[in-house]
Amino acid sequence: MSRQVPLGVLISGSGSNLQAIMDAIKEKRLDAVIRIVISNRDDAYGLVRARNHNLPTEIVDHRKFPAREAYDQALVDLLKTHDVELVVLAGFMRLLSPVFVRAFSNRIMNIHPALLPAFPGLHVQRKALEYGVRFSGCTVHFVNEECDQGPIIIQAAVPVFPDDTEESLSARILKEEHRIYPRAIQLYSEGRLHVVGRRVLIDDLEKLEDQALVYPPLKG
Ligand code: GRF
Repeated sequence: MSRQVPLGVLISGSGSNLQAIMDAIKEKRLDAVIRIVISNRDDAYGLVRARNHNLPTEIVDHRKFPAREAYDQALVDLLKTHDVELVVLAGFMRLLSPVFVRAFSNRIMNIHPALLPAFPGLHVQRKALEYGVRFSGCTVHFVNEECDQGPIIIQAAVPVFPDDTEESLSARILKEEHRIYPRAIQLYSEGRLHVVGRRVLIDDLEKLEDQALVYPPLKG
């Protein structure tokens, strides 16, 4: 059974994932309500997107805080003031301290533009190209105290082409991000996600038998 899960979305930049989430809510593919959009930067374009949707926004500048913990506590307080249940990191370029992670244990999601645990950290599309992988993709995971190592909820794989640039691969991955992030949140909203150790068990998950992706393709 689904309900409108109250979200707090944290951004630092373009906010295209925020846009995908707002669109999914509008199109009734996602049972959620965005209570607050918070940016650590006042020039984040995602703030414009949020205001265009008449969502409440706040800028909380990390440079005005003496330490990471103080900053994170301010974010936690603000999110709690808005009765946020699930925190959605959507291009939020800050590491979270235990102060934050413990306040929303298994209630923080992040999206990462690689197939974790491969290529954690930054500039991962470039690293995937340099490594020569045939597939990369994106991962939505719960956030724990280790960077990019929390329990995985959903992944999308895309092929990597020989003539890809960092930009072309990033664009292919970003398109999938916009599909899987709303889906991950909807699974949460439906109460179907259960964190057991490192794993996320999903109620009523269909199996994709005989659906391997192969690149280069087997034919020809
Ligand atoms: C995305 O590639 C996401 O995976 C990463 O930061 C980027 C954010 O893009 N964490 P946007 O701000 O949602 O457009």
